[in-house]
Amino acid sequence: MNPKFEFPQGFLWGTATAAHQVEGNNINSDVWLMEHVPETPYVEPSGDACDHYHRYRSDIALLAELGFNSYRFSIEWARIEPEEGEFSLAVLEHYRDVLRTCHEHGITPIVTYHHFSSPRWLIASGGWESAETPDKFARYCERATQYLGDLIGTACTINEANIASLIVEWEFAPPPRQRNKQIWWKATAKALGISLRRLAPFLYATSSKAIDIILSAHHKGVEAIKSASGDFPVGITLALQDIQAVEGGEKRAAKARKAINDVYLEALSGDDFLGVQIYSRVRYGPKGLLPPETGVELTQMEYEFWPEALEAAIRDAVAKTGLPVIVTENGIATTDDTRRVEYVRRALHGVINCLKDGLDIRGYTYWSAFDNYEWSLGYRPTFGLISVDRETQERTVKPSARWLGAIARDNGFEAQ
Ligand code: GCO
Repeated sequence: MNPKFEFPQGFLWGTATAAHQVEGNNINSDVWLMEHVPETPYVEPSGDACDHYHRYRSDIALLAELGFNSYRFSIEWARIEPEEGEFSLAVLEHYRDVLRTCHEHGITPIVTYHHFSSPRWLIASGGWESAETPDKFARYCERATQYLGDLIGTACTINEANIASLIVEWEFAPPPRQRNKQIWWKATAKALGISLRRLAPFLYATSSKAIDIILSAHHKGVEAIKSASGDFPVGITLALQDIQAVEGGEKRAAKARKAINDVYLEALSGDDFLGVQIYSRVRYGPKGLLPPETGVELTQMEYEFWPEALEAAIRDAVAKTGLPVIVTENGIATTDDTRRVEYVRRALHGVINCLKDGLDIRGYTYWSAFDNYEWSLGYRPTFGLISVDRETQERTVKPSARWLGAIARDNGFEAQ
């Protein structure tokens, strides 16, 4: 039997959610709107989601009981500032209670200020392609921090700041010219009363200008959080990719690495930490992105089952930024919970290898606490450690939750 590995004292063991994916009825957000326009690409609306907006107390108690000592969740800008410049004290008070509940249960809250969804008014005023958005984001960060800052443990400004670059690189969404012909896209612009040219929700802000706008929102957000006396580590999270080249694919792989990972990694100096998020690897050949390799198991997302990607991403990110790392998302969508345990077991081996080499890794966050709303794919992919009955909202703990919770409680891992 291998000896037990002890994680550093204070290592954050958690799970993650995002407001729009779990709270329910986030009706003032752009994503809710896009879910409901004619010919929407969203397979189903988010609806009540996991009703976490009302069930957070028992949900957080459950996470603590399982053994976790941190919880990453996002606060929803569309609720906190429902119209430009109008801040809802009732909603801020709600999030204060979420934070208080975490502390009551010995859980360090990791708060994300923006996780994909934005207020409708922001998108109606040019969204993530508008040069005014960074200041608007900073104002929201400042107000939220003034109200909540004393209870926040760690903050992430923007979730997966590089997601649109990834969407462009992998052609997950049609290019703007094609999109402008689509009924749902036109309906969204019409509902917001803007021209197609001005329509830029976060996931569709794909111009090169948008990269600067998003990074500037991050930098201004950090400043605003700190000046509102936010006395906790602040960083950003990135959807990093383990981009591998097969013979002849080196150039294409290097180009993709630059566009998806490096442009962002190079812009982060001065942050307190980097949130690393990764799920799988991808391979590039001479003509570009390759399909999954024959024989490699696929997850519900049709990603390769490749937990080793986490170690590769951490090493690459540390080499390029020198920043401490928190793994803010890592996980698998599967109906077979034993595969979840195997995935996390191998991913944790990667974390241990890095720690043994002296890399500064401060936590591991499994995505996700609950089976929840996977954006345009709806409720079908199940990432959760806990399942949720869509009719009754009843929570059922999966064996993987108890397995990972026990490791968390122990802060140690018997290498198996
Ligand atoms: C993202 C987000 C999460 C996802 C998760 C699973 O990576 O897209 O941060 O909201 O649900 O990653 O795909």
